[in-house]
Amino acid sequence: MKILVINGPNINMLGIREPEIYGKTTYKDLCDRINSYASEKGIEVELYQSNHEGAIVDKIQSAYQNAQGIVINPAAYTHTSVAILDALKSVSIPAVEVHISDVSTREAYRQISYVREYCKKTICGHGIDGYLEAIDFLIEDSN
Ligand code: DQA
Repeated sequence: MKILVINGPNINMLGIREPEIYGKTTYKDLCDRINSYASEKGIEVELYQSNHEGAIVDKIQSAYQNAQGIVINPAAYTHTSVAILDALKSVSIPAVEVHISDVSTREAYRQISYVREYCKKTICGHGIDGYLEAIDFLIEDSN
């Protein structure tokens, strides 16, 4: 099984950006944790991060017939991007939405999520562990 893990804008700044909200774990630490979790579980993962909406759309399209699950933290594009939602619908691959922070308790403009309409599950506010929970869900869902 192959899972594509996609992170949107500013997630590459983890550990530096607003540590009181997003913690001190860096993006590299996040990648290391996901990679070692995937090898424990015996699955393949591909990690991708971009600050550009169209690049994220391209990456989702590239997963067509190439990945069996998508974990996506669209970051700020969560609240604005119909294009990312449409890309997920286009490839029809089971997906889980992850947010490091608990967006439900934050600003009003973070209360809308376009990808939520497509994703099988949303995990919010579990920090970095949320990505591992999403991987577990997709493995379970594929059985
Ligand atoms: C985020 C929450 C978003 O509202 C924000 O724009 C992010 C990160 C999170 O992981 O908590 O960049 O997706």
